[in-house]
Amino acid sequence: MSDLGLSRAEVERLGRRVVTMVANQLDGIRERPVNRPVPQDVRRRLLALPFGEDGLAPDQILDFIAETIMPWPMGSGHPRFVAWVNSPPAPIGILTDALASTLNSAGDGAEHAGRFLLKAVTRWLAELIGYPTDTTMGLLVSGGSLANLTAIAVARQRAAERDGWDIRVEGFQGSRPAYVVYASDEAHSCVRKSVELLGIGTANLRLIPSDAEFRMPPTALAVAIAADRAAGRRPFCVVATAGTVNTGAIDPLDAIADVAEREGLWLHVDGAYGAFGCVDPAAAPRYAGLARADSVALDPHKWLSVPIECGCVLVRDAELQRRTFSVIPPYLDSAAAPDPDNPRWTIEYGFTLTANFRALKTFAVLAQLGRSGVRAMVARHNQLAQDLAARIDGAPDLERLAPVTISAVCFRYRPAGAPDDEAILGPLQTRIAEALNREGEAYILTTRLRGRTCLRACIMHYDNDVSDMAHLVERARTWGRSLNA
Ligand SMILES: Cc1ncc(COP(=O)(O)O)c(C=O)c1O
Repeated sequence: MSDLGLSRAEVERLGRRVVTMVANQLDGIRERPVNRPVPQDVRRRLLALPFGEDGLAPDQILDFIAETIMPWPMGSGHPRFVAWVNSPPAPIGILTDALASTLNSAGDGAEHAGRFLLKAVTRWLAELIGYPTDTTMGLLVSGGSLANLTAIAVARQRAAERDGWDIRVEGFQGSRPAYVVYASDEAHSCVRKSVELLGIGTANLRLIPSDAEFRMPPTALAVAIAADRAAGRRPFCVVATAGTVNTGAIDPLDAIADVAEREGLWLHVDGAYGAFGCVDPAAAPRYAGLARADSVALDPHKWLSVPIECGCVLVRDAELQRRTFSVIPPYLDSAAAPDPDNPRWTIEYGFTLTANFRALKTFAVLAQLGRSGVRAMVARHNQLAQDLAARIDGAPDLERLAPVTISAVCFRYRPAGAPDDEAILGPLQTRIAEALNREGEAYILTTRLRGRTCLRACIMHYDNDVSDMAHLVERARTWGRSLNA
């Protein structure tokens, strides 16, 4: 046996041990603290971990993981973890991820069944949100950041083609009018990073002030585009958000699509968090216009409980996307011989070459839920968010700071009659979140809305129920009272 090889008996014995570790982690999670801060000695031990001259036995490695890593998880599997946009990993996704590693297919290249499954899974995702599938390319990527970057790169390619120049050859080195991107001031920070990385520059990113509901006003968008044109710049892309990271606000997509169409701009929708919200009939009207987008980002690892990492980008014009990214070196030449039953390798449509076989866990989670299961889960989360909002509205010392559109709820502790003074209320919210997270009863974030610090809960667990909402309100009020006193 080589240094890494294991006998079949050993694979089975160790595999059972790993599966037991998985089951132990999932079983009874509700009864354990949501969050366990990593003790100082463990931090130091890990930071200084020596790389030994001699290898360890697999059992020693699993002992180490069981004792030193698994007791201190981020907590996103717990039903009372409501921070960021992190759904818990579905058990079927965890288990099939091991199968994906076993197959170890290098992304989408070469001949393997996973290539064809990827096509089906990205089509399922498009169908789920009612996005056209005929000319669309779907890629599974690491997450929303790469999905948005990919889409904006394709938008930039289209603008350059329309202007009659080859950006892939010339880059942004010439003396051309500045290319401008539009998004709301509630757009995710990865839009800014994308604009920086694509050579557009933040000087050419217009963050349109959002309205009272944290949505991008189409009129202000049109005014900003006109101002840029008047100044000789080249507007080319609007990034609308369907589910902002702070409040879950959905920009008025249909009206923004009208502006984009009139102005000849690419419309990208960042639905990394919220695109799946459209399957909830109560929220669906808010998504009118989504299918008009040139591209959409939507992350199975955010709302659908597909284990991290799994983002997705859909681009309606697959050929344009290929012109944006395709480079076929001689050693990948077989990628250039497509036929209807053998679609081109997706490596021609994005930046990444070798990639994890994300389609397998995504297929497994979607297949277990079925369309009706996805609808029921998303609708339940949205209803629970409404339930939480109603409890907040009914509490004299809590104040909601944003409308609840999908599953995110922003609120703060403010004793009845207390002035709206951020200098006092802001640090109070931070201390409430710290206390709540430290006691392990919940895990919540703070964010800032229009200069006000607030608590933010995002409801995403497949096991959430109203008791979790009641509990969160009770703990926030209890800590608020005690820390305010
Ligand atoms: C609206 C939105 N877009 C993009 C992202 C970035 O996604 P990722 O963290 O998967 O890169 C997030 C993350 O929460 C998000 O909420």
